[in-house]
Amino acid sequence: MRKKIVAANWKMNLTLTQGEQLVNALLDSGIQLDTHKEVVIAAPFPYLIAVKELLKGHPGFYVAAQNVASEKAGAFTGEVNAEMLHSIHTDYVIIGHSERRELFGESNAVIAKKVDLSLAHGLKPIFCCGEPLEVRKAETQNAYVAKQLEESLFHLPAEQLQHVVIAYEPIWAIGTGLTASAAQAQDMHAFIRGQVAARYGAGPADHLSILYGGSVKAANAREIFAGADVDGGLVGGASLVAKEFAEIVKAI
Ligand code: PGA
Repeated sequence: MRKKIVAANWKMNLTLTQGEQLVNALLDSGIQLDTHKEVVIAAPFPYLIAVKELLKGHPGFYVAAQNVASEKAGAFTGEVNAEMLHSIHTDYVIIGHSERRELFGESNAVIAKKVDLSLAHGLKPIFCCGEPLEVRKAETQNAYVAKQLEESLFHLPAEQLQHVVIAYEPIWAIGTGLTASAAQAQDMHAFIRGQVAARYGAGPADHLSILYGGSVKAANAREIFAGADVDGGLVGGASLVAKEFAEIVKAI
């Protein structure tokens, strides 16, 4: 059975104290995780150790970094590499978020390097893909996402792909209050799974968790997660409020 995952992407929000309060409130919110369900908290780098510590003894709860360097090590002031993240027991890393692509100029090639280095150091990538509004309007979103997969992920051998989670995040739905409809999300997720099946075969495709991201909230989570190929969500704004995020987790 493939994993159902709800991941919180705090982005550049919260102080350490606020983050700790949020995690504690979440742990007190009565979330029950079956063995195939996971909650992932993508906290800012300086909080990863503290959040990991708070999650100790809570099976099914994991930490993620929101980014990782595309270089191995050395003179790259301000960067954090995969080996460092692994050394503090980070479980996942978000790679290729549209904010990284758009605001920090990350190309498919750079993202591919981040994927490789993360896997080499035992981090599980949450690989983000998704189209901007003009692409959706032109109805060329499938080709757009296929290219992202092709250029950043499909060089991996099957035994590495099994450690990857994909997050489909249409850019026009991120932080905008606009959500893809449940049908739009399911269609794209089925397309992505089909692409993976064509490249790796039905087994690896069936095993892959594909999350939806873009204005997920308690009020729409159940409907979106009902899609047969929607295995959970990557949640930004709504992950900053414990009660709201807990409701989303309960919807998987
Ligand atoms: P949002 O962000 O839930 O605030 O739209 C999602 C994301 O960027 O991962």
